[in-house]
Amino acid sequence: MTDRKATLSVGNKSIELPMYSGTVGPDVIDVRGLVQEGVFTYDPGFVSTAACESAITYIDGANGVLLHRGYPIDQLAEQSDFLEVCYLLLNGELPSEEENKRFHDTIKNHTMLHDQMRNFFNGFRRDAHPMAIMCGVVGALSAFYHDQMDVSDPKQREITGHRLIAKMPTIAAWCYKYSVGQPFMYPRNDLSYAENFLHMMFGTPCEDYKPNPVLAKAMDKIFILHADHEQNASTSTVRLAGSTGANPYACIASGIAALWGPAHGGANEAVLDMLAEIGDESNIETFIAKAKDKDDPFRLMGFGHRVYKNFDPRAKVMAETAHEVLSELGLENDPLLKIAQRLEKIALEDEYFVERQLYPNVDFYSGIILKAIGIPTSMFTVIFAMSRTIGWFSHWNEMVSGANRIGRPRQLYTGSPKRDYRKK
Ligand code: SDX
Repeated sequence: MTDRKATLSVGNKSIELPMYSGTVGPDVIDVRGLVQEGVFTYDPGFVSTAACESAITYIDGANGVLLHRGYPIDQLAEQSDFLEVCYLLLNGELPSEEENKRFHDTIKNHTMLHDQMRNFFNGFRRDAHPMAIMCGVVGALSAFYHDQMDVSDPKQREITGHRLIAKMPTIAAWCYKYSVGQPFMYPRNDLSYAENFLHMMFGTPCEDYKPNPVLAKAMDKIFILHADHEQNASTSTVRLAGSTGANPYACIASGIAALWGPAHGGANEAVLDMLAEIGDESNIETFIAKAKDKDDPFRLMGFGHRVYKNFDPRAKVMAETAHEVLSELGLENDPLLKIAQRLEKIALEDEYFVERQLYPNVDFYSGIILKAIGIPTSMFTVIFAMSRTIGWFSHWNEMVSGANRIGRPRQLYTGSPKRDYRKK
């Protein structure tokens, strides 16, 4: 932090506000004192607002940079694995070989759900959206561990984090199994995190399921690419819920709910729906025109980002992974991939997208990979939520382990002035 000041003139008054610098990125102006001056800042959508201080993830939107505890996302995607990235996000440093093995073993020992949790699934219609099921089941975890949810106890926070990382793939896979009427598959401790997820998704009691190593590696990369993304809408939701002292399972459930929206994590499902609606490369120009038409609510799903005004570094890795998976499966000529590639090329050359700095984001290619693996579109955001749980929990943990005040924004009131009650 530095002792620099910003000066704000309000009417004929000059107000000095402290400024702080982080390790890297824009300085901030501390506006907390403005309420004493009788004014608020106004920033719907929090475009220019730093809601907190954090050391977990840094995004440089202008240069397409994403760092997790200082490590570039492309290096982590190529050289690390999801559980090691979980350890890094949680603890701030990469684990030693011994710490990594202990962490992997710990997670493996928490992958099962309390058997009574099966009853929650049975309460849903078979055609319930899996995000609705996941939201309900994760919130219900607080009913099974209520004696270990003292948020002020670091040990209880640690075990909660391990439980969430370990159980989310089981919950996600059971959401899918429930929707297709197949028996739930129990986790296997002889498989890696990604292999185990594929086993619980596609295995059946009738035969021994052998995860395809290329697909397992692709899944692990998808988990890494979705793990965290600083103060996005769902993470900010988790922080706001956590600032009230709500239990961590309830806070993660609030993050799942926020992620579901098509402008956020729901975009991966919306990209596939959009590609299917386009149907053929000959229709692309029509949809580009719709995306540019102010009177048409249609947007190019998987394009644009609040922070990235350059390529989303995750989208680049995702595009490479899409090629690996499709060639492994002999689907190089997948029509949806062809439409996506053509759409990307046309959009990146179109003035409307160029001047608004709209590039493919993390959601543009992820759905093509997941669909190729055989995962239904309704499960795409569930997988995003499963991956992002470590990011949500790491931010929650960072917040509750420090000095924390309840989040309570103010407003610009434009409603009726005071008036006395008179029956109409
Ligand atoms: C994620 O925040 C995160 O970090 C999120 C995320 C994470 O990891 O947590 O990265 C994950 O949510 C990725 C984004 C997924 N969403 C989509 O792909 C949905 C489509 N994209 C958008 O709706 C939009 O780009 C947002 C929501 C992502 C960003 O919205 P902003 O920052 O509020 O930008 P905006 O709506 O103000 O758009 C600026 C201009 C507008 O045009 P003008 O009014 O200036 O003329 O760009 C246009 C918009 O109309 N625009 C688009 C567009 N996105 C923005 N036009 C067509 N297609 C699009 N996709």
